[in-house]
Amino acid sequence: MTEAQTVAVNKVVDAFTVSDDRLSKIVQQFVIEMEKGLDHQGATIAMIPSFVAGRCTGDEKGSFMALDLGGTNLRVCHVTLLGAGEHTIRQQKYIVSEELKTGPMRHLCDFIADCVDSFLTENGTSESHEVIQLGYTFSFPVLQTSINRGVLKQWTKGFNCSGAVGKDVTILLQDSFRRKNINVNIAAIVNDTVGTLMAYAYKHPETTMGVIMGTGFNASYYEDMSKVKKWTGNKDEEMVINMECGAFDCERRVLPMNVYDNKMDRESINVHQQLYEKMVAGMYLGEITRNAMLDLIDQQFLFNGESSNDLNKNWSFETAYMSTIEVDESDDLSDTGHILESVLSIPSTTLVDRQIVKRLCNAVGVRAARLASCHIAGVLTHTGKVGHDCIVAIDGSLFEFYPNFGNNMGDALAAVLGEQARSKVKFDLARDGSGLGAAIIAMIAAKK
Ligand code: GLC
Repeated sequence: MTEAQTVAVNKVVDAFTVSDDRLSKIVQQFVIEMEKGLDHQGATIAMIPSFVAGRCTGDEKGSFMALDLGGTNLRVCHVTLLGAGEHTIRQQKYIVSEELKTGPMRHLCDFIADCVDSFLTENGTSESHEVIQLGYTFSFPVLQTSINRGVLKQWTKGFNCSGAVGKDVTILLQDSFRRKNINVNIAAIVNDTVGTLMAYAYKHPETTMGVIMGTGFNASYYEDMSKVKKWTGNKDEEMVINMECGAFDCERRVLPMNVYDNKMDRESINVHQQLYEKMVAGMYLGEITRNAMLDLIDQQFLFNGESSNDLNKNWSFETAYMSTIEVDESDDLSDTGHILESVLSIPSTTLVDRQIVKRLCNAVGVRAARLASCHIAGVLTHTGKVGHDCIVAIDGSLFEFYPNFGNNMGDALAAVLGEQARSKVKFDLARDGSGLGAAIIAMIAAKK
């Protein structure tokens, strides 16, 4: 590597480096914003009461359907809760096309209803004359007014259907079921973070937070409702709050956004929104890294100054490539070379090129994990749980597959709260929890 190259690469890596001091400032600001969201409507972090009150015992029983919309696929599930923390689940995935994600909401709802219909037919559940109760995991900011009513505040994660913002999303889907004579009642509308928390709590009742680190990024936790000023219902209970924390710091007070983040943000369909999510979630990390690569290419420090048509395309550098590159420990970084040359058609790459790309991926990935720990430190601080045992149930491809993500989060947590506090916090993988969680919540709702 030439000296000029080293200087240029270090400069880019520095732009992604977040000091411990900065992490502490982010946590302080996060706590302030959380409290604003609990005090009044319309705050940056929405802090939405989920109407899921009380904890599960694991003894819940019965059969329910669940839907999961909001990541890469639509999942339709049939869940049987057996009690004693046990359950069985049958499920089917359906691909949601880009056209459906950005077309009229009615088309999306009709598609979902058709998937449910074919699932019921294939699984022989459609002959039943009883109404089937369903938990609808709809993983977007929905301002709930009851367990099965809520209005979509805005779209996130690349969805942008017309005729949905400001509408009750349960009514829209229930309408499609009715038109198609499908005997299903939406008993609950559920955010994926809330579903993940409930699903994990079914086996581990002491679970305190549910977190998604996948395509998107968000979290939920148990709140003492007497502390929620904007809440006009029963103040004596505990309720799960869907934070919608991906929206944190849209005012750009503390998040260390750099030129590569700004470029990605401008090209996204929700410009200036979800800035915290955009620095952490799987949907965006590849694009940020691509922007950093293009900068070094334009300065003639990478790939001999030459990009490719593929690499020039927005969103062409997937976050999954970063995981592969980060674990590539071969002498010639051959997996990295394969992605760059065979997948992205860069004519030829040297070992130095591959090393530079690996450093960029690492810088973006480490920053994401460090920033991702701030919201956990914030919740622990706000709820007075720093230093207490606590389980954080986490689902999502980034947490499951991105190399070292959990460890880097842990180190950042230790930097902010201290080693002793970190040792009390357990990050557990709660794979595919939201289907089970939605079924549990549908059961609680149906009982009421
Ligand atoms: C986005 C959505 C949020 C969801 C998260 C994870 O942030 O707004 O509702 O929980 O993605 O899927």
